[in-house]
Amino acid sequence: MRDYEARRLKNCSQSPTVALNAKGIEMKEQGIDVLSFAAGEPDFDTPEIIKQAAFEAIRNNQTHYTSAAGLVTLRRRIALKLREENGIAVDESCIIVTPGAKLALFQALMAFLEEGDECLVPTPAYPSYQAIIRMAGATYVPVPLKIEDGFRLTGQMLEEKATERTKMLIICNPCNPTGHVLSREEVEDIAAFAREREILVISDEIYEKLIYDGRKHYSLGAIPEIADRVITLNGFSKSVAMTGWRIGYSAAHPALTKVMMKLQTNTVNCTASFVQVASIAAFDCAEETEAMRLSYLERRDLICDGLNAIPGVFCPRSEGAFYAFFKIDYRDMTAEQLADYILEKAGILVVPGTGFGEGGEKCIRLSFAADKTQLKTAVERLRKIFA
Ligand SMILES: Cc1ncc(COP(=O)(O)O)c(C=O)c1O
Repeated sequence: MRDYEARRLKNCSQSPTVALNAKGIEMKEQGIDVLSFAAGEPDFDTPEIIKQAAFEAIRNNQTHYTSAAGLVTLRRRIALKLREENGIAVDESCIIVTPGAKLALFQALMAFLEEGDECLVPTPAYPSYQAIIRMAGATYVPVPLKIEDGFRLTGQMLEEKATERTKMLIICNPCNPTGHVLSREEVEDIAAFAREREILVISDEIYEKLIYDGRKHYSLGAIPEIADRVITLNGFSKSVAMTGWRIGYSAAHPALTKVMMKLQTNTVNCTASFVQVASIAAFDCAEETEAMRLSYLERRDLICDGLNAIPGVFCPRSEGAFYAFFKIDYRDMTAEQLADYILEKAGILVVPGTGFGEGGEKCIRLSFAADKTQLKTAVERLRKIFA
């Protein structure tokens, strides 16, 4: 067939995590004994009151288009949360409700990046950052972080990669895949850099509710000097296990929101109406979220302790999210070779660290949002093959 692919897509690939997850599902369907820890998804079901709210909304015929930015009741509730919990000064005019935070990310990058622009991304990072930057025709500029330094990011590291063309920076806090949670100092350092360079910052805070060991979450959008130029992304997928419902949001200055609305109104039009109604109930699920967090914490300890007891494995204790991101020194294998070896010899599906960009060399990402018995089995099998 003739090559019909648009040039803007030539430079990017399908999401490696989504593709690997599909591989795991396929292998299981074929009856192959595989333990899959590749997905980025809670292993909990959506809380009952959210489901009930959705049933009720459908029964009440809340099945029509809503205003494109989202139901005003939901946007007001989101804005209230951002003001009260995050210290971000927004109202409903700053919010766009999207089918997943991923679409909010797409809109934020497409709206402001173009050919000639550069976008900084501390890596290892969520693979879609790189892909969408490239789709927008802009240049992806990784800022590699080191596992040995606890993936710490400084303004100096950003400054070294910045040029006159740097227009945006994407921060993921807590970070998928590394589990790093930014300290107050790091946030201030990043903010000082962004202010100095007058760049836009995307702050992806989708894992905000999953933080461990008494650490605190600091939002970049709460820093007055840069607040006007921060686009905060968040949603319900990870905090209340609503991945399949597809709902998230962006929060930004009304002038930026207006530009992103050009994409929203001409693509999705609006997020599913009854899903929006159900999401309002998610704000009453603090107890359920906390129970999930505690359960992830227990499994984090199980997996990190188990992995660190294997010679050649270095697994920093994840500070947030639900991933173990660890380094394996074994026969000088690359991350891809390690992931293949783990699948072949232990029947375990994991994501090679390099799928998340520079800084992931010799590393593996394993989601511990998985059955405890399976996690124990995984540690046992890994111990055997790396012994
Ligand atoms: C860092 C990060 N940002 C955004 C998303 C997208 O989440 P959503 O399900 O709301 O589209 C994910 C999902 O895995 C993620 O890990």
